[in-house]
Amino acid sequence: MRRLVVLLLAVLLPHETSCSAAAASGDRCSRRCGSTTVPYPFGFSLGCPIPLFCDASISTPILPYIGENGTTYRVIAFNSNTSTVVVGLPPSCSRSVPEAKRELSGGNYGVSSRTGLFLRGGCSGINASAGGGCSVPVDVMSRLLRTAQCTGLGSDTSPAAVACVASAPPNSTAAVHGQFLRWEKVEKQKCDDVLTSTVFVLTAEGTATLEFGVAELGWWLNGTCGAGGGERCAANASCTDVKTPSGELGHRCGCVAGMEGDGFLAGDGCYLGES
Ligand SMILES: *[C@@H]1O[C@H](CO)[C@@H](O)[C@H](O)[C@H]1NC(C)=O
Ligand SMILES: *[C@@H]1O[C@H](CO)[C@@H](O)[C@H](O)[C@H]1NC(C)=O
Ligand SMILES: *[C@@H]1O[C@H](CO)[C@@H](O)[C@H](O)[C@H]1NC(C)=O
Ligand SMILES: *[C@@H]1O[C@H](CO)[C@@H](O)[C@H](O)[C@H]1NC(C)=O
Ligand SMILES: *[C@@H]1O[C@H](CO)[C@@H](O)[C@H](O)[C@H]1NC(C)=O
Ligand SMILES: *[C@@H]1O[C@H](CO)[C@@H](O)[C@H](O)[C@H]1NC(C)=O
Repeated sequence: MRRLVVLLLAVLLPHETSCSAAAASGDRCSRRCGSTTVPYPFGFSLGCPIPLFCDASISTPILPYIGENGTTYRVIAFNSNTSTVVVGLPPSCSRSVPEAKRELSGGNYGVSSRTGLFLRGGCSGINASAGGGCSVPVDVMSRLLRTAQCTGLGSDTSPAAVACVASAPPNSTAAVHGQFLRWEKVEKQKCDDVLTSTVFVLTAEGTATLEFGVAELGWWLNGTCGAGGGERCAANASCTDVKTPSGELGHRCGCVAGMEGDGFLAGDGCYLGES
């Protein structure tokens, strides 16, 4: 059995946004946001395959989607090994399911299958006998609900009123299928809001950790590895096809074991780490 070893509540306060489109010169990809540099294929200019917004005042990349009330989603971490990013998803009682789907899905990224979503409000689709998709300690859930400050009509804040949807994580990060959350499973619960989310991380020791208030997004580039389509991987990188949420195939480049870098010819490629 896997043990739950770490419970971490990331409380991310909303903040003012200032989006500065970095000056695009030609079609080179500018990857700097204040004092932060993001890994290719992310960047802040027209030449970047996966564009992000930049909050230059705090050197923080944010998803290129501004929610209804100016809500923004910060990118907290990039992982080129797994082709994923982690974004903050602060607890909220007014983020509808369609809104969450819009803000966390892009032309080249989607919610990964290691992310579980907590849903609330209505939830007429919950099958009580089947139970939720995952379970959370009651004290953690109570804290999440308090943080979100759910009020007003239909604000049943008892942990039992929360549904949880998680996909079975794929066997490995190299798997073509099963890398993304299946939104139809989320929509089937018929809940009003996405309260927050959690990311399951399996450590090298085989234990599972859960982080709350964050979502993991997997990304890809268009076209498959073969047939010359899409971006070229660097030397010492391998290319893997991945089934995207729309059902089409995309690809990812990753450095071979022991080497670091983004794996792209147009980025930093792969290099031996210092040690
Ligand atoms: C935006 O703010 C209004 C008024 O405060 C609120 O009713 C609505 O639910 C909010 N929408 C989102 C997506 O937070
Ligand atoms: C990849 O294709 C999707 C549509 O399938 C499109 O929205 C997106 O902009 C494309 N990305 C790039 C980098 O061309
Ligand atoms: C609810 O779950 C049980 C057990 O998994 C299953 O037998 C039943 O058909 C489900 N009911 C509905 C309405 O999905
Ligand atoms: C995971 O791999 C095992 C054996 O390698 C296979 O039997 C199983 O069906 C796989 N599970 C999924 C969800 O692909
Ligand atoms: C990296 O690529 C170079 C040139 O293609 C090759 O000589 C070297 O063996 C590769 N290193 C690894 C670790 O694959
Ligand atoms: C990516 O892999 C390299 C070597 O395989 C390793 O040194 C590095 O720590 C990994 N990075 C992350 C974020 O896991």
